Amino acid sequence: MTPGIRPLVAGNWKMNGNTASLVEIATMDAGFTEALQEKIDMLVCVPATLLFQASQMVMNGNLRTGAQDCHAKASGAHTGDISAAMIYDAGGSAVIVGHSERRADHGEASQAVCEKAAAGLGEGLQTIVCIGETEEERKAGKTLDVLKEQLAGSLPDSWEKGELVVAYEPVWAIGTGLTPTADDVAEAHAFMRAELVNRYTEIGNGIRLLYGGSVKPGNARELMAVANVDGALVGGASLKAADLLGIAAAYLDI
Ligand code: PGA
Repeated sequence: MTPGIRPLVAGNWKMNGNTASLVEIATMDAGFTEALQEKIDMLVCVPATLLFQASQMVMNGNLRTGAQDCHAKASGAHTGDISAAMIYDAGGSAVIVGHSERRADHGEASQAVCEKAAAGLGEGLQTIVCIGETEEERKAGKTLDVLKEQLAGSLPDSWEKGELVVAYEPVWAIGTGLTPTADDVAEAHAFMRAELVNRYTEIGNGIRLLYGGSVKPGNARELMAVANVDGALVGGASLKAADLLGIAAAYLDI
């Protein structure tokens, strides 16, 4: 937690889910109770194919929807891509950029991630930029160096609209069931906070810093209670409403 920052619990469905899975969105929306709404924001980033329908389903609720990537440009000859403007038009209010799976599968380097982040922010989206070290980098003691470099390269210098959110996701913790210790998370998040304050001055104190990587209902309370952890980015456990709501419930007694 960071005093004064409202936490965000964000789901990332990755390449999972079809129209039948939308029942989970309805259940999440119904389960996002007033008690939870008082404490946190909640978001689910669904596959692009489901964004319009999911957004329509939660239109009157407080659960928000988003996408998992966007192109840096607003439109044009970019077969297979979607733009931030299209995400907004489909009802999304957020986008994830620079996820380690995009960096690895699509060769996206920090410069490309930075351009996507600028596009998301320019469209007024809550833009979640992911960073994190690989297992090799951690073993070599390079975690903070990697975070420094990825923060410097992936974040735009300034933005006028939208909200920049940073997610720390150790690559080795994603989908593996492994998590860093609370002390390791605290160290990484304190480092990121200092880097953000250094670069953006007072704005850096208000940027939400999410932790992601094998967050589950069973470990959420410990991880979310860490200083400078302002929420979670949740993959596998966001596919089922009961699990995502179980993670959110950690905030009822933090
Ligand atoms: P996980 O994924 O929760 O399945 O580890 C997290 C993420 O990749 O955002």
